[in-house]
Amino acid sequence: MPKIAPSILAADFSKLGEDVRRVSEAGADYIHIDVMDGVFVPNITIGPPVVKRLRDLSDLPFIAHLMITHPERHLAAFAEGGSDVIEVHVEAEQEDVRQTLRAVRGLGCKAALAVNPPTPVEAAFEYFDEIDLLLIMSVNPGFGGQSFMPEVLPKIPAARAELIRRGLEVPIEVDGGINAETGALAAGAGANILAAGTYVFKSQDMAAAIGALRSLSGPSSKD
Ligand code: DX5
Ligand code: ZN
Repeated sequence: MPKIAPSILAADFSKLGEDVRRVSEAGADYIHIDVMDGVFVPNITIGPPVVKRLRDLSDLPFIAHLMITHPERHLAAFAEGGSDVIEVHVEAEQEDVRQTLRAVRGLGCKAALAVNPPTPVEAAFEYFDEIDLLLIMSVNPGFGGQSFMPEVLPKIPAARAELIRRGLEVPIEVDGGINAETGALAAGAGANILAAGTYVFKSQDMAAAIGALRSLSGPSSKD
């Protein structure tokens, strides 16, 4: 059973707190927070002060998905804001990916590395000893509501094989265009966590949407 991480990018920003509370009560496992800087991706979303304000509204672990350039400059702010997992992109300009991941762990957070659709997942392999979670993007980041790219699916078993080869039990999250149909493909390929924005927040019944994703068959979740 995969774990479910609703992406608040698809929430109503005019009542973000209420939406975070509602989705938490609807049975989510994590809150996925999409942070965009207008440089690494064309869109701009939210930053650490918003994360901090949301922190009191949910007991769920917060995943801060940093789609930003030079993430190392902002790690402390996201950690202090209450992020439990901090995801940085292997493609993002930064001093040193390994140092960034170590800094995340040094702040007491779980470190995750994200891989965009055009990037071979092998680009992340050399950092597998430094991560607590791997994020495989199934859309090009920047916007919610895009279509799932099935061509990324083979990355999931490829990453899992390399993790097993290294003796690592690292969960794999898939993010972008997830619904009941595409979520089944991702879970079937071995995803442990499904990030879903539009499918959860635009549904009439968030609990049912989360339940539908969670019932998809996949590997037993490791987090
Ligand atoms: C894309 C974000 C995703 C995305 C998820 O840049 O990282 O988290 O918004 O939203 P949906 O499920 O609508 O694709
Ligand atoms: Zn995301």
